Amino acid sequence: MVAKRTIRLKVLRQDTPTGGTTRRWEEFDIAWHPQMNVISALMEIQKHPVDAKGNKVAPVVWESSCLEEVCGACTMLINGKVRQACSALIDQLSPNGEPITLAPMTKFPLVRDLVVDRSRMFEDLKTVKAWIHLDGSHELGPGPRQSPENQEEAYPLSRCMTCGCCLEACPQVNARSSFIGPAALSQVRLFNLHPSGKMHAKERLEAVMGEGGVADCGKAQNCVEVCPKEIPLVDSIAVVSRQATKHLLFGWLLG
Ligand code: SF4
Ligand code: SF4
Ligand code: FES
Repeated sequence: MVAKRTIRLKVLRQDTPTGGTTRRWEEFDIAWHPQMNVISALMEIQKHPVDAKGNKVAPVVWESSCLEEVCGACTMLINGKVRQACSALIDQLSPNGEPITLAPMTKFPLVRDLVVDRSRMFEDLKTVKAWIHLDGSHELGPGPRQSPENQEEAYPLSRCMTCGCCLEACPQVNARSSFIGPAALSQVRLFNLHPSGKMHAKERLEAVMGEGGVADCGKAQNCVEVCPKEIPLVDSIAVVSRQATKHLLFGWLLG
């Protein structure tokens, strides 16, 4: 009889946001299935929450929604690398049965086990007004036309899913810094590019000109390396930095 293949998952767990003393690694052996990804492996633990020693434990808690790398909810550290669990294939992570480690991101407040609170990213989007203002809900007619060049520049930026990978990798984002981080800065570039969004460019730039703003980027480029949507974050930061400098020098003249 052929022995069934199993996968070992090592999961960093913590029961509550403040329960540092409950922090621990737990190991699980899961039956292998073809095309398995980290989320389907976690679902196996949820169905049968028994650790590798045979002890019944609380099911591991994680977050996921789209299951196709669009929502960013399942972002975690997989074998130490920040990425989405739904697109992390078990066969690629563990071709020869190596244990796979799962841990929560470290730059966001922990909620429980693999779930973190990414609210700061959504608050940062509010800070930079990452939207197009609409003057009422009445019929406004067709919007302004965007040139193909403009669309080409904007499209990659619009793929951001606020997953948090770039903040996790950025050395300037840490407990001692108020740096807004690359994702929100790239959204400043996106909305300042838009023919209607341009009308509020000044406010967006002013939001990132002070402490914790665009000048705090150390240009380490870690963010670009980890962005799953390959967003040109360093280019965005350079563009926003130039816009901010121009606004600082000539903003009073342009009003
Ligand atoms: S810029 Fe990339 S890494 Fe950062 S939040 Fe958006 S999708 Fe994620
Ligand atoms: S380039 Fe700037 S935003 Fe990107 S990782 Fe480095 S310091 Fe952070
Ligand atoms: S579940 Fe949405 S990105 Fe993984």
